[in-house]
Amino acid sequence: MSVAICPGSFDPITLGHLNIIRRASKIFDHVIVCILYNSSKTSPMFTLEERADMVRRSVSRYPNVEVAVSDELLAEYAKKIEGAVIVKGLRAASDFEYEFQMNLINKHINPALETMFLTADGKYTFLSSSMVREMAMYEANLDGLVPNEIKQDIIQKAQVWRKKNG
Ligand code: PNS
Repeated sequence: MSVAICPGSFDPITLGHLNIIRRASKIFDHVIVCILYNSSKTSPMFTLEERADMVRRSVSRYPNVEVAVSDELLAEYAKKIEGAVIVKGLRAASDFEYEFQMNLINKHINPALETMFLTADGKYTFLSSSMVREMAMYEANLDGLVPNEIKQDIIQKAQVWRKKNG
């Protein structure tokens, strides 16, 4: 059975992420969307469990996609899933350098681990979780940016944040 791991911090999941997950689910028998810590992103909007819940609701229509949370290194997590391949999306050349470096460090930790890249759909090349968070803080319309199932979660979280921070 072919297995893909789609890793990310998903804070929150966007339609760009979902597009990559859906395409991976057509290529691989099984897809694990794995939510991990990114140590360079120190003030997340959502907890890992909140993010997992939002990802689960967003992928519920895809029968061969499951959601996992891990506090391990990605390359260590992948060791436990036989033959798993990492699948990531590339939006632009600017993503490539970072992803190339991640691929090399993952290979250093787990030499058997392969990474495949899917190019982002043109309509999502500008989209990122940080842009969604920023837009939500300004009460901008999130239609076409995030799955409908989680729009309200983001709006509510941004409202709480605004109340707390004035
Ligand atoms: O969506 P992101 O933030 O670009 O995803 C990055 C992520 C979470 C996949 C990456 O930071 C990661 O793999 N985190 C787990 C820890 C790890 O393995 N770090 C790389 C080796 S130091």
